[in-house]
Amino acid sequence: MKITVVGTGYVGLVSGTCLAEVGNDVLCLDVDPEKIRILEEGGIPIYEPGLQEMVRRNVAAGRLHFTTDIERAVQHGTIQFIAVGTPPDEDGSADLQYVLAAARNIGRLMTDYKVIVDKSTVPVGTAAKVKAAVAEELAKRGIDTPYSVVSNPEFLKEGAAVEDFMRPDRIVVGAEDEQAIHLMRALYAPFQRNHERLIITDVKSAELTKYAANAMLATRISFMNELANLAEVLGADIEMVRQGIGSDPRIGYHFLYPGCGYGGSCFPKDVKALIKTAADDAGITLKVLTAVEEANDAQKHILTGKLKARFGDLKGKHFALWGLAFKPNTDDMRDAPSRELIADLFAAGATVTAYDPVAMHETQRIFRDEPRLKYAENPMGALDNADALVIATEWKEFRSPDFEAIKQTLKNPVIFDGRNLYDPKFVRSLGIEYFAIGR
Ligand SMILES: NC(=O)c1ccc[n+]([C@@H]2O[C@H](COP(=O)([O-])OP(=O)(O)OC[C@H]3O[C@@H](n4cnc5c(N)ncnc54)[C@H](O)[C@@H]3O)[C@@H](O)[C@H]2O)c1
Repeated sequence: MKITVVGTGYVGLVSGTCLAEVGNDVLCLDVDPEKIRILEEGGIPIYEPGLQEMVRRNVAAGRLHFTTDIERAVQHGTIQFIAVGTPPDEDGSADLQYVLAAARNIGRLMTDYKVIVDKSTVPVGTAAKVKAAVAEELAKRGIDTPYSVVSNPEFLKEGAAVEDFMRPDRIVVGAEDEQAIHLMRALYAPFQRNHERLIITDVKSAELTKYAANAMLATRISFMNELANLAEVLGADIEMVRQGIGSDPRIGYHFLYPGCGYGGSCFPKDVKALIKTAADDAGITLKVLTAVEEANDAQKHILTGKLKARFGDLKGKHFALWGLAFKPNTDDMRDAPSRELIADLFAAGATVTAYDPVAMHETQRIFRDEPRLKYAENPMGALDNADALVIATEWKEFRSPDFEAIKQTLKNPVIFDGRNLYDPKFVRSLGIEYFAIGR
């Protein structure tokens, strides 16, 4: 099939590449010429395990192409995926300007039947807006070319995105006309050879499903964070509680890890957008989600609170920070808890030396020439002259460090672990002061 992917970010690049991998002829469009240049030169603009080799393989096979040429992109694909960003607007609602600009481009330039697929995470009712935007452009041209609009939210996880796309748990397609459903079925057949994973719904239900999934996951995290804070005061160990409840199949073990808050490009903005859609479009206050967000905002400052409780005034203190990305295996820094922590520490007069295996260049881009933030080449290099070690991301390489060396290098043998990586008894038995979340 001929496929165009509009927006070559985390979702667009992974989707386009995986669709090429199974034999489709894919053209990825982006308005950012720098991204397209990097891709055309054989690099990739993001960090995502396994993606670079797959991009190279499919480019070499002639199935995957990149462009900034909108007209070429619209002409190319019968299926036009819209995978552009939907960042929060000032009021928290999803900003649809990029989605609608992409839709208008398609309407402005299409000359034959297109299935326009909303892959971006968009509020209920967006497919109707996309449909109207395309209709308006066609009307301006005085033509009546047929097209369908489909909602196909993406559930991939950064850090495991290729695997998630190639072996999805489910593929949700919201569509209301047979021609589009037929094409979407054919498109996704190679990804579900073992058993049917396609869930065909009406358009609005598909749009809401994506928000419901992220809102549920965010809820589990905030719930556990609140219980962790309670466990700490009561003298219980949240890790034991987690195992005690996770063993119940109705609850399960996934997404019950307490920490220093959720971040990333999806949960914070999607929770906000769902609250906003509910209020504006339905007059409903989503009380649970409002609390989920509040709890998370507070949790992002939990480590600062612990540092202040231990050291008092943080003015002049220097901290080693392990982990910057909002989670392991990605360089994504959008809404990462580390950003709030660093801002808190600066506000309190402290300085930081950070280490992250892949997110340091992105952090540098965000913090620019900030003199209070230095970077180390390896985890141990961050510890020199530091008053304590603080951990904000659970990268594998932090799981079993040389505790003796940590103890020798830090000014004070203190670890603040925002991801509960270590056994408190063991670490404390080594003579290290250890502060975790809910333990
Ligand atoms: N990142 C994730 O893990 C993830 C997972 C599931 C869903 N989503 C959703 O997918 C969407 C995209 O997310 P992302 O993380 O890939 O974003 P991103 O910011 O990494 O990529 C978006 C890309 O779209 C490009 N773009 C913007 N307007 C354009 C236009 N008119 N034409 C062509 N390109 C254009 C931008 O330059 C950018 O490269 C969002 O709605 C997001 O919520 C993201």
